[in-house]
Amino acid sequence: MSTKKLERGVAVVGAGISKFGAFREKSSRDLFVEAFQSMQQSVDKDFDPADIETVYIGNFSSDLFEGQSHTAPIMADAIGLASRPATRIEDACASSGVALRQGILAIASGLYDVALVGGIEKMTNLPTAKVTDTLAAAADMLFEIPAGFTFPGFYAAMASAYMHKYGMKPEHLMNVAIKNHENGALNPNAQFGVTIPDWMNSRIESAKKKGLPVPTWKDEWDFLHDESANPMVAWPLRLFDCSPITDGAAAILLVAENIAKNFTDHPLYIIGSGQASDVALHDRDDLTSISAARRASQEAYAMSGVKPDDIRIAEVHDCFTIAEVIATEDLGFFAPGDGYKATEDRITARDGTRPINTSGGLKSKGHPVGASGAGQAVEVFKQMRGEAGKRQVAGDIPLGLTHNVGGTGGTCVVHIYERRD
Ligand code: COA
Repeated sequence: MSTKKLERGVAVVGAGISKFGAFREKSSRDLFVEAFQSMQQSVDKDFDPADIETVYIGNFSSDLFEGQSHTAPIMADAIGLASRPATRIEDACASSGVALRQGILAIASGLYDVALVGGIEKMTNLPTAKVTDTLAAAADMLFEIPAGFTFPGFYAAMASAYMHKYGMKPEHLMNVAIKNHENGALNPNAQFGVTIPDWMNSRIESAKKKGLPVPTWKDEWDFLHDESANPMVAWPLRLFDCSPITDGAAAILLVAENIAKNFTDHPLYIIGSGQASDVALHDRDDLTSISAARRASQEAYAMSGVKPDDIRIAEVHDCFTIAEVIATEDLGFFAPGDGYKATEDRITARDGTRPINTSGGLKSKGHPVGASGAGQAVEVFKQMRGEAGKRQVAGDIPLGLTHNVGGTGGTCVVHIYERRD
């Protein structure tokens, strides 16, 4: 594990996101332009896009989703930066978290002062079965796919192992979905920006209007236990344990620390960056933890000199509810086996002592896979600067963290952000 520092400091001075959802009429180009414009608006002082010297775009599979590869120069062209070096980064669902790291390394090396990092994915062009096949390309084609695994299946195996080891029940995972939908309901960019009780009530109202049998759910727990409302996808994971299929984009402006105040009085400084890889799931000794996440976070903590307890907020990779539980343990926020209890005790709620996924997470905000890592950084940027609107966490947030996973943990990338003013 590296404990080295960056050769020079790097700051985030702008961050923006497109609406996440299903947009039949839009291409990833349209979504990226939307995210870029939102990022531009977030830069407080003068900023000329022509100052951007290099572009890194995270994208899992525009080839298969849209029939378009060689995506990075096309995105650069769409925002008027056709002549800049533009590089696509593919690391499954960690693509734009890794793109962020590449942008940081490019500035830290001294080669560039201003870098644009983005993420895009346009998934809804394909029907669910084809999306599932496309996502499966991020798994091991030699062993895992012939064995019949899909991504919900992989995480279901992790959930079963976790339940067996720590005594968690499937009901405990519902707390993650309830919390993340509470947060997402306050995020205007979320795909499913609605609380689960409101979702339930709208189903009841819709049945009444249509003259259909009216469901008799008493509360969200009743709703989540009802097979017709929350069907099993891969035991023990049900529909509301899964992130959705999403179109979306995000954009981040990185600059060298010494020029950050030219762009804003409130930059966020990147003080830790860690990345690690791991063998495929079938070769692991333990399915209840992601060792790449442990190693990536240890690298980021060592680089920054901060400890897990110092982190005030975090956006973690909750592609499935179990993934959030495991992430909070891998990051050292809770001891192994305690992550699900922390969610049940509301420690990870917006008004808890360790808010997790205030954006709604991938579960409620949506999971356009190649854009999700950059999207996490956008939320941390907004929260740490007090610009998160109705979902703003109370009090000062001097330190935040993002945790972005590719596949079942073949890749993990962790970043730590500091506010100094
Ligand atoms: N959570 C809650 N509701 C969801 C949902 C989700 N994740 N995904 C879809 N829905 C709802 C839709 O809004 C729709 O509701 P409606 O009937 O009231 O309009 C209903 O479920 C059916 O939607 P549809 O798009 O047809 O769902 P689907 O059955 O085709 O797909 C999943 C559902 C869970 C299989 C799909 O979202 C999925 O594969 N998710 C995982 C994606 C993934 O693996 N990402 C990578 C992670 S590593």
